[in-house]
Amino acid sequence: MPLTTPKEMFEKAYMDKYAIGAFNVTNMEIVQGIMEAAEEEKSPVILQISAGARKYAGHNYIIKMVEAAIENSNVPVVLHLDHGVDFNICKEVIDGGFTSVMIDGSHFPFEKNIEVTKSVVEYAHQHGVWVEAELGQLAGIEDDVFAEQNVFTEPDQAVEFVERTGCNSLAVAIGTSHGAYKFKSEPKLDFERLEKITQLLPNYPLVLHGASSVPEEFIKTANNFGGQIAGAKGVPEFMLKKAAQLGVCKINIDTDIRLAITATLRKVLNDFPAEFDPRKFFGPARQAIKDMVQYKMRFVLDSSNKA
Ligand code: G3H
Ligand code: 13P
Ligand code: ZN
Repeated sequence: MPLTTPKEMFEKAYMDKYAIGAFNVTNMEIVQGIMEAAEEEKSPVILQISAGARKYAGHNYIIKMVEAAIENSNVPVVLHLDHGVDFNICKEVIDGGFTSVMIDGSHFPFEKNIEVTKSVVEYAHQHGVWVEAELGQLAGIEDDVFAEQNVFTEPDQAVEFVERTGCNSLAVAIGTSHGAYKFKSEPKLDFERLEKITQLLPNYPLVLHGASSVPEEFIKTANNFGGQIAGAKGVPEFMLKKAAQLGVCKINIDTDIRLAITATLRKVLNDFPAEFDPRKFFGPARQAIKDMVQYKMRFVLDSSNKA
């Protein structure tokens, strides 16, 4: 099946109140793990690439891996740019075969965010490409963008932003953050705000970044075998389900993939100290990614059997 845009995926997800997983990829095992899960679950899926990941793997490698992945695939797949910082990178990936881009002008003042988003929308739409934008800021680091604190999305501003830019989906800030340390105390998201945004923007797909759950088992395994990941906390699964009920159609997951790999590598390297065939390490890591993604599709995102 050829690559597709998120249009139809999101329309269906919005209507039936489930979400599409957008998983960050950087190498072959990650692509394979996610795609095996999506095929078995018959779930639509978004493969997303950050600027850092694109630099790490190389644009052509990414495209060739994804081409290989979709060659015999029976599920809809979107290739999406995660956190594009400016017009140029969005243009490069649109010209290079991506079907969806995120222009992240969230670090700019409102008017400047509108201006840069509009310029990407104009170019992307000429090429049949979907545009996700962001309003409000997530605390933490995303490539070159660092925000000390969350700046939650203002519902009225969200309406004006969508109307004036013509962006196709909007990432909102309601209390999540990137990485493995999302909450200092009890996890809390501003669902009232999310509900307000959805009321003001009916039938409009919203996006939740920083949506990894940071599974306890990965942290325990990593730490049992030499890791030092202390105080990690993610978004509880029930909150992700609730977000999907309130207009969130795309749920971004990167950290949980990183943790699946790290926990598995630490354990396998520890269990088999004489082993030095990388396939014996990366194979189990790929399996751990697949199991985690499959679990999410089936029990959290509810995207199984929706392809
Ligand atoms: O938004 C952040 C994603 O986890 C991508 O992270 O920029 O380190 O590849 P990265
Ligand atoms: P996590 O760090 O919670 O996995 O979020 C990833 C993300 O939002 C990518 O854009
Ligand atoms: Zn993000």
